[in-house]
Amino acid sequence: MYNVTLNNGVKMPIFGLGVYKTLDMEEMLHAVDWALKAGYRSFDTAQMYKNEHLLGEALERSGAAREEIFLTSKVDLGNTGYEKTRASFAESLEKLRTDYLDLFLVHWPGQQKERLQETWKAMEELCAEGKIRAIGVCNCKPRHIGWLTENGGTLPAVNQIERHPLFNQQQLVEWCQKQNIYVEAWAPLARGNILLPEIQALAEKYKKTPAQIVLRWDIQSNCITIPKSVHEQRIFENVDIFNFELAEEDMRLLGSMDAGESTGWDLETFDY
Ligand SMILES: NC(=O)c1ccc[n+]([C@@H]2O[C@H](COP(=O)([O-])OP(=O)(O)OC[C@H]3O[C@@H](n4cnc5c(N)ncnc54)[C@H](OP(=O)(O)O)[C@@H]3O)[C@@H](O)[C@H]2O)c1
Repeated sequence: MYNVTLNNGVKMPIFGLGVYKTLDMEEMLHAVDWALKAGYRSFDTAQMYKNEHLLGEALERSGAAREEIFLTSKVDLGNTGYEKTRASFAESLEKLRTDYLDLFLVHWPGQQKERLQETWKAMEELCAEGKIRAIGVCNCKPRHIGWLTENGGTLPAVNQIERHPLFNQQQLVEWCQKQNIYVEAWAPLARGNILLPEIQALAEKYKKTPAQIVLRWDIQSNCITIPKSVHEQRIFENVDIFNFELAEEDMRLLGSMDAGESTGWDLETFDY
């Protein structure tokens, strides 16, 4: 496990635990406990997941020191705009039982430029007030990031986007990396659908599992990755990727499997 350095100097683990759809206290307690034992220090939640309070309680009960943990949440699209962003951020802190976030992200850009700019202004202020260490976005195309920066706004530290071999968004990844915006892969395991013949063959070649092959491809592509699991064996399996290296030809093979198969919403229309 190692950290990467974001464009504002903040260090972030390249690997973390996603908790989307973890909605049960017992499940969250176990997942956090196993993850900490397995060496995870980064946890990714969102207002939309309705489980910030579960993650907050699980982290508190784990006894882990706050400064050892890298905590990410996201402002829900329905909570965007200047006032609602500030108010919902305060609620997120309370639910997560903390007085700061390491990373706060805009969850979806939506279709309204001005609303996104107002949201960003609130996030910049919260950052300046020391309540957030780094701010970023999710699901943004270059045009959305242009909306944020056109009047001298802060360049996002992270763009969290869907990325897995069947939907690798290579052009966007390269564009972000050129701008010095870290790409963070969501649904890195294509939500569990990674049993493809090419990936299985690589798993046999490297004596690793299909999940480990795909997650290693992420970190070797310099993308932060946050697979979700609530099972002990998988939580340990997923992080066991720092002891082997994919050959260049195998990186190329994984990068050639794109089929445009997104599991997410259509960015051109999604809003609420
Ligand atoms: N910014 C955004 O718009 C956005 C959107 C979606 C997700 N995210 C974030 O990204 C995180 C990851 O994405 P995701 O949860 O959608 O999908 P994912 O991590 O690609 O896949 C999770 C699924 O894969 C299964 N799984 C986990 N490890 C496995 C393994 N080793 N072998 C086989 N199956 C395995 C999990 O089942 P079990 O839990 O039963 O093990 C779960 O069903 C989320 O939890 C969330 O934090 C962000």
